[in-house]
Amino acid sequence: MSEVSYRAAGAADDAGIRALLGATFPDNVKAQEAFTRWQYWENPFGATVSWIAEAPDGRVVAHWAAVPVPMVLDGRRTRGAKGVDGATDPAFRGQGLFTTVGARMMADCANHGIHALLTHPNPDAAGGAERAGAQLVSQVAAHVRPLDPAWMAGRFRLPRRAAALAGAAFHVSAGDDHAVVEAPAPELDDLWAVAGAHVSNGVVRDATWWRWRYVDRPERPYAFVEARRSGRLTGAAAVTVAERFGGRFGLVLEYLAVDAGAARGLTAGLGAAAAAQGAVGLALAAIPGSRLGRLATGAGFRRLPRRLEPRPLRFMVVDPHGDTAGLAARTWSMAWGDLDHL
Ligand SMILES: CC(C)(COP(=O)(O)OP(=O)(O)OC[C@H]1O[C@@H](n2cnc3c(N)ncnc32)[C@H](O)[C@@H]1OP(=O)(O)O)[C@@H](O)C(=O)NCCC(=O)NCCS
Repeated sequence: MSEVSYRAAGAADDAGIRALLGATFPDNVKAQEAFTRWQYWENPFGATVSWIAEAPDGRVVAHWAAVPVPMVLDGRRTRGAKGVDGATDPAFRGQGLFTTVGARMMADCANHGIHALLTHPNPDAAGGAERAGAQLVSQVAAHVRPLDPAWMAGRFRLPRRAAALAGAAFHVSAGDDHAVVEAPAPELDDLWAVAGAHVSNGVVRDATWWRWRYVDRPERPYAFVEARRSGRLTGAAAVTVAERFGGRFGLVLEYLAVDAGAARGLTAGLGAAAAAQGAVGLALAAIPGSRLGRLATGAGFRRLPRRLEPRPLRFMVVDPHGDTAGLAARTWSMAWGDLDHL
């Protein structure tokens, strides 16, 4: 076992943490000072709980942070956080550093009044997250909607007849009026009051959340879509276009809709926004059986077979005050925008 020491970190450790994060993932935006300042050190929802392992020479060799996010538990506002940027220096891996950093960070969340920590570990980090105390809520399912059915049929090797049938299945009737807009709509608090009433446990996606997550972020590779009925805002969505499943896809990060008509309008607008950037399809992540999954399916998304998903995504939770099993058993809402790096 290497001689490392563990401690809570703060803004004074920023450069050391960013050096580790930059070395862990190529092109990691978190290597940039503007990102950690925005997300960790000047987070409007509270103080970030960051823990590190230090080598004897003072280098940061492992890290994990809980970034505060606005949250509801059992429908009531509370303090929550999202686990981000778990990393261990390659020379120190396989020695339990990530597990120990994680367990200490989770325990410290209790001192910061955090009642739920959400985490979406990749397959390499899932074991450590579990050993540190997190429990699985659900695997998250990818849902897709083709914008270019011929590409989709070729990529997923559908026989011609099946492709034609799939194309027909993806067809949905028109929904609410929709538009691609420069910035999130001003009435997001009103929309959240209606659409958010269905969310018992999860991130509060009100105007403050959208502003921080999508407008204040140092880089903003996002397009926004709104749906309206007789002028009233009935849906809001955010999308970013990136390589997935072997092609360019519009990754739907937010998808707030009051009902099925609003969801269909949003989907049409998202298709236009993503196609304008050369996307061949839309993709959306949802907990199977969740309202988000049902709305998306009703608006023409189809669940991608598990074998076609590039990497399984888990949604795990921790109760820093001890009842993690109780927390994991609740009905949770999530959207891809909860993943800070998209
Ligand atoms: C994922 C990561 C943080 C784990 O860090 P770690 O300090 O090695 O974690 P632990 O020692 O607590 O657990 C190590 C895991 O790797 C395995 N392992 C064993 N020897 C190893 C080695 N020499 N190198 C890497 N992994 C090893 C262990 O069996 C264990 O697997 P399991 O969790 O499936 O049981 C680290 O591999 C990493 O930085 N990866 C790249 C960044 C990343 O993917 N971060 C997660 C973002 S969600």
